[in-house]
Amino acid sequence: MEPLPPWPLTCLLLLALPGADAQVGQDFKDFKVQQLQDPVTVAAGQTITLTCTISGDGPAGPVRWLKGKDSGVTVYDQTGSSPRVTRAENGSDTDFSIHITDVQPEDAGTYYCVKFRNRLKGEEEFQRGKGTEVSVRAKPTRPVVSGPGRRVAPGESVPFTCVSGGFFPEEITVKWFKDKASISAQQPQITPAQTKSSYNMSSTVMLTLQRDDLRSNLSCKVQHPTLTDPLTGMFQLRDALRVPPSVRVATDSRSPVEVNETVIFTCDVEGFYPGDVDVTWLENRTEVKVEKLSKPVETPQGLFKLRSLLEVQATEEKNGSAFTCQVVHDGQAPVSETALLWISALAKGGQSDLFQTPYDNLLPIYIVVGVVCTVLALLVAAILYLIRAKQSKGKSSPSARLHEPEKSSEATTQESDPNNLTYADLNFEKERKTIRRMVEMSQQSEYACIQASRPPASDDNLTYADLDMVHLSKAPKRPAPCPEEATSEYASVQIPRK
Ligand SMILES: *[C@@H]1O[C@H](CO)[C@@H](O)[C@H](O)[C@H]1NC(C)=O
Ligand SMILES: *[C@@H]1O[C@H](CO)[C@@H](O)[C@H](O)[C@H]1NC(C)=O
Ligand SMILES: *[C@@H]1O[C@H](CO)[C@@H](O)[C@H](O)[C@H]1NC(C)=O
Repeated sequence: MEPLPPWPLTCLLLLALPGADAQVGQDFKDFKVQQLQDPVTVAAGQTITLTCTISGDGPAGPVRWLKGKDSGVTVYDQTGSSPRVTRAENGSDTDFSIHITDVQPEDAGTYYCVKFRNRLKGEEEFQRGKGTEVSVRAKPTRPVVSGPGRRVAPGESVPFTCVSGGFFPEEITVKWFKDKASISAQQPQITPAQTKSSYNMSSTVMLTLQRDDLRSNLSCKVQHPTLTDPLTGMFQLRDALRVPPSVRVATDSRSPVEVNETVIFTCDVEGFYPGDVDVTWLENRTEVKVEKLSKPVETPQGLFKLRSLLEVQATEEKNGSAFTCQVVHDGQAPVSETALLWISALAKGGQSDLFQTPYDNLLPIYIVVGVVCTVLALLVAAILYLIRAKQSKGKSSPSARLHEPEKSSEATTQESDPNNLTYADLNFEKERKTIRRMVEMSQQSEYACIQASRPPASDDNLTYADLDMVHLSKAPKRPAPCPEEATSEYASVQIPRK
């Protein structure tokens, strides 16, 4: 046979091409892509090997690894792929196994080893293995507990949420604790993240906050098969609490204060949390600058307190002024407390309202006091009089009686001159000497001379005379009484005349 001319061969070849499919389908009957591996579960970060072998003759075309059903994502291609994916047997025509290093939860899925065949218009899938399921065990992320997003006052019930994610498998348990006490919560909500390769979890608990929760912690403990010890998320309850302050304004000075006195107003802001507080002083609604700014001090209960001082010079114009301590705590509406400054008018040149105003009211009191004083004075006078009278009664008061001359009287015989004699009865108290005063008071004194018949002995001390009768001379007055001797005393007698 003569060889065929070259053109009919070419022609034949060209004609034969479209019908190649049918021929190939039969020809590659024993071609087989084999993935015999059981499902693979791997911990995140580890390396997996996915096995794939090809047997029998196959059409021209590449072998690739795809993830997911249908078209899927190309994981491995001979022309190049992710650096994490490498072939187990480089250059082998039968072993298309691959390694995937540092497996991540998102690597989870079903991997297919696929033989493609070249067609005129690109490639088409020729055969794929039954697929290898890969699961990546992943630990949950550290749980994060979030509060209500705003601070609340004690007594309010607010939700707290614990979230954790990226874990596989799905099973997870969540427990809540306030300090060490367990708190019951609803089952956590588990949602698949991305392509079901991992899950997210969210757990919520309702809590009524108390003032003493400032020192308490809320914790969320997450347990998962990938963990030996549970993971804990913490929340300090003080971050969700706001304890408003009490505000008290006082002054150490007595009210009203004196003019020019320095008055110190104190504003006690107590029992608040958190410690950020803004204290301003207002004088009649106008802000006053305060030099002494004090910082909040933490009390053992975890609350804060602060004292702000305002010094005021009490001038008269400030009388009745309102001093307000205004406190803005944690961005809340201001809380304020006001004190008034009263200045006494006492300093005004002694003219005092304090004394003028109540004068009318005091008048009856003055009258009563006057009456009482008078009565007391009379009483004292009466007592003095009585005492005096009693004293006088005990002593015989001096008395004198004047008698006309009696010629027959024997008593007068002592004096040899009976003419013009007047005698008097004298009843003097022996020791009385005050009688002398009477001499000075009266002009009508007369003097009598008493002469002892014998002069007394020189050493005798004559101090008084006990006389029943004294003869008084009616002779003209002499300028002086009888010559006085050193040892004599005299008495005067006052005689009232008719
Ligand atoms: C799952 O949690 C991760 C963080 O842990 C977050 O980035 C992601 O958006 C969450 N996905 C869903 C579906 O909630
Ligand atoms: C108060 O002080 C002012 C000025 O310092 C002075 O002029 C005034 O006399 C003072 N008043 C009294 C009552 O002391
Ligand atoms: C201050 O005001 C009070 C009440 O109005 C008044 O009684 C007092 O006298 C005033 N003081 C002065 C210093 O004006």
